[in-house]
Amino acid sequence: MVRLPKTLCVLMLIGIAEGGAVFDTDLGDLCYSCTCSADKTIIDCSHRGLTELPDGFGTQVTRLNISHNEIATFPESIKKFSNLLSLDLSGNRLNELPRDALQNLTVLEELNLSRNFFEAWISLNPNEVFRPATNLKTLDLSHNKFSTMGNLANQELIISSSLETLILENCEIDSIHGRSPLSGLINIKTLRLHSNPLMRIQSLISSTLKSLDVSNCALSTINHNELMYLPSLVYLKMSHNYRLELSATAYNLFSDSLKYLDISYCNVLQPNLQGFPNLRRAILNHNMIRFLRSNEFVNNTLLEYIDLSYNNIGSLKSDTFRGLHVIKYLDLSWNEIATIPEDTLLEMPSLTQIKLSRNYLSSVGHLKSNSLTVLDMSSCEISSIGKDSLEGLQSLIDLDLSRNLLTHIPDSISSNTLKYLNLNYNRITFINNYTFFMLPRLAGLSVIGNRFTTIWRRSYFESNPYLERLDLTDNMWRCDCADANMYDFYEFVTLEPSKKEESYNLVCNSPIALIGQTWLEACYFVWNPTEKVPNPDGIIWFITVMIIGLAVCLLLVNCIKRSMQRRLATIQAERERQVEEARDRLRQLRMRAEQEALCNTPDPRDLIAPPSYDEALSMPKLNTSCHSLNETGTGKTKRRRGRRKTKSSGDLLEETERNGDLPVLDDLELSENPNDRRRHRPRREISRYGSHEVAELDQSPGARRRRMSEYNTEYYDAQNGDVMTVEVQAELERPLRPRQRRHSNEELRESDL
Ligand SMILES: *[C@@H]1O[C@H](CO)[C@@H](O)[C@H](O)[C@H]1NC(C)=O
Ligand SMILES: *[C@@H]1O[C@H](CO)[C@@H](O)[C@H](O)[C@H]1NC(C)=O
Ligand SMILES: *[C@@H]1O[C@H](CO)[C@@H](O)[C@H](O)[C@H]1NC(C)=O
Ligand SMILES: *[C@@H]1O[C@H](CO)[C@@H](O)[C@H](O)[C@H]1NC(C)=O
Ligand SMILES: *[C@@H]1O[C@H](CO)[C@@H](O)[C@H](O)[C@H]1NC(C)=O
Repeated sequence: MVRLPKTLCVLMLIGIAEGGAVFDTDLGDLCYSCTCSADKTIIDCSHRGLTELPDGFGTQVTRLNISHNEIATFPESIKKFSNLLSLDLSGNRLNELPRDALQNLTVLEELNLSRNFFEAWISLNPNEVFRPATNLKTLDLSHNKFSTMGNLANQELIISSSLETLILENCEIDSIHGRSPLSGLINIKTLRLHSNPLMRIQSLISSTLKSLDVSNCALSTINHNELMYLPSLVYLKMSHNYRLELSATAYNLFSDSLKYLDISYCNVLQPNLQGFPNLRRAILNHNMIRFLRSNEFVNNTLLEYIDLSYNNIGSLKSDTFRGLHVIKYLDLSWNEIATIPEDTLLEMPSLTQIKLSRNYLSSVGHLKSNSLTVLDMSSCEISSIGKDSLEGLQSLIDLDLSRNLLTHIPDSISSNTLKYLNLNYNRITFINNYTFFMLPRLAGLSVIGNRFTTIWRRSYFESNPYLERLDLTDNMWRCDCADANMYDFYEFVTLEPSKKEESYNLVCNSPIALIGQTWLEACYFVWNPTEKVPNPDGIIWFITVMIIGLAVCLLLVNCIKRSMQRRLATIQAERERQVEEARDRLRQLRMRAEQEALCNTPDPRDLIAPPSYDEALSMPKLNTSCHSLNETGTGKTKRRRGRRKTKSSGDLLEETERNGDLPVLDDLELSENPNDRRRHRPRREISRYGSHEVAELDQSPGARRRRMSEYNTEYYDAQNGDVMTVEVQAELERPLRPRQRRHSNEELRESDL
């Protein structure tokens, strides 16, 4: 008792919430299950298995597609769509339309009700249902089962003042009866009754109907006056009515307005188009016409296009086409025409294109026309063409003689206008330089599938300056690569910029070794004698050479590197040897000095005590730069050393002192090693004398002792490694820095001066 109202409240709340949601999202539901355009004006709900229209539509929708669903009753809610332009309800299960179905759809233009279950006209409410849709233009009722189209009691009459196109295809309609079923459609323009088992169309009355399609019906005869009640009819399609023919005699079908007539795939024995004086285009193919009489089209003075192909026309008269003053296109292909009277085409002064393919013309004949530009005579069993055959065709541009039995083209076949000549699939074996001599405008020549064996010559086309296209595929070319003409013609055909044919279409058929090869493949090495190696091999060869070259380079680099290393090693060894030698010499000198020292004990007076530290500080500073040290070390030391090898150490000393080298060196050593000053001082003093004074001094008793101390000096220096280091360094620098050495020599010379 207490709970029930609560539950109700909850349910009510849910209901309100849902209602609100629908209201809020507006198109939410719809776009959830259907496809909407970005602005939600176009909605596609097709193939959704819907049994009714989902709710939540808005008025902004202009195109609604709910085709191919399971909808059985016309959706009430469609009335909300006052802006709908197009409604597609095809492929549903509708069998009736409510009286007010289209109420409010005032702007609707297109209604598709095809493939539904309508059977009786009356279930459509045809009198009233379309009245509100004042803009309805197209109504598709195809693929329903109406079975008749009548107007007996006006109840079945479709009434719409705006409807222009009514589609009733495949509606199993077998008769139109009563007063005109079109009388309620005062604006009807197009009626499509394609694929109905209709026998007659006599009850159609409309002053506005322009286009009537009754193709693929069961029409057999049309009364001569049947089209009289369709005074605006322009387009009549009656094809695929297998028993239909247009009656002859005085009761011809008549229409003043008809311009386009399609009566193909019927049973027409005679064109009988006299009743259509305004006819522009007549399609009469796939009929049973056996012959064309004189003046067959004399009343069709406005005819521009006739298709008479796929008939059995065996003969024409020279005046058959008389009166066709404006005809441009005539198709007589797939007939049985054996001869065409020479003047036939002259009756059609505007004719530009004629198709005569698939007839039994045995020769091209001597047709005459001043207007014809395109002539198709393919597949006509033509075996001969006279050299003046084309002279009567004074505007001919395109001649198709393919698939005939021509074995040769006469010399000097002449036409001043011909541009394209198609001779494909004939049996022509040769041409010469007079064949196309008289075709000055020739631009394209096609001889695919003929029997040419001898390769053509460039000279064949000497009088065809406009030639730009040659089709030479599928001939039996005998390739003789050694023949200069073959290459010449190959060039003529394939060389840019005036290339006329793809080189792969030029295939040899003999000799046996070359069958199937293109001219280029067959003759490549003959035409390019320098290129003995074909291209792919050339690349391999190139790569091989590259690899070998690279290997050789690597090897060379390696060799050079190794020889350089070896040279460096020998230089190193040489240096080490020299250092070793120098050490040996020093050792010997020391030994000798020691021996001499044992013999002559030095005069104690000559022994000068080493200077104290303070003394050393007060001693004169070394002026010699590092530069002069280098000079000393490089230039003269070597000379000295070289001499040392041959001279005694005494001589060496004398010379050294004369040169004044060593003192400089000593000065340097002095600064470097203050502990050695004691031993150096005498020599520094010596260095202050001139060389001749030195010679005098040499004789003094102290000189010998001084000399002795020199040895000692050198010896101690060696012990300290100073002199040796300088010398060895100098030696090491020499080979590595020859430029610097020369430079220092120069400086030496300068200083000597
Ligand atoms: C509706 O949808 C069907 C199937 O998708 C389509 O074939 C048809 O053309 C659509 N109709 C219109 C009017 O766009
Ligand atoms: C017709 O359309 C209008 C909006 O254009 C709308 O207000 C009205 O409710 C519609 N009528 C019906 C019956 O849905
Ligand atoms: C109507 O719908 C059918 C089936 O969907 C379609 O084939 C036909 O073209 C449509 N008619 C028009 C006029 O669009
Ligand atoms: C064809 O035209 C001629 C005049 O050129 C006319 O006498 C004749 O009646 C017309 N035939 C038909 C069937 O209209
Ligand atoms: C025609 O070809 C032959 C060789 O076949 C040649 O001697 C002659 O000069 C050519 N005539 C012309 C007009 O090119």
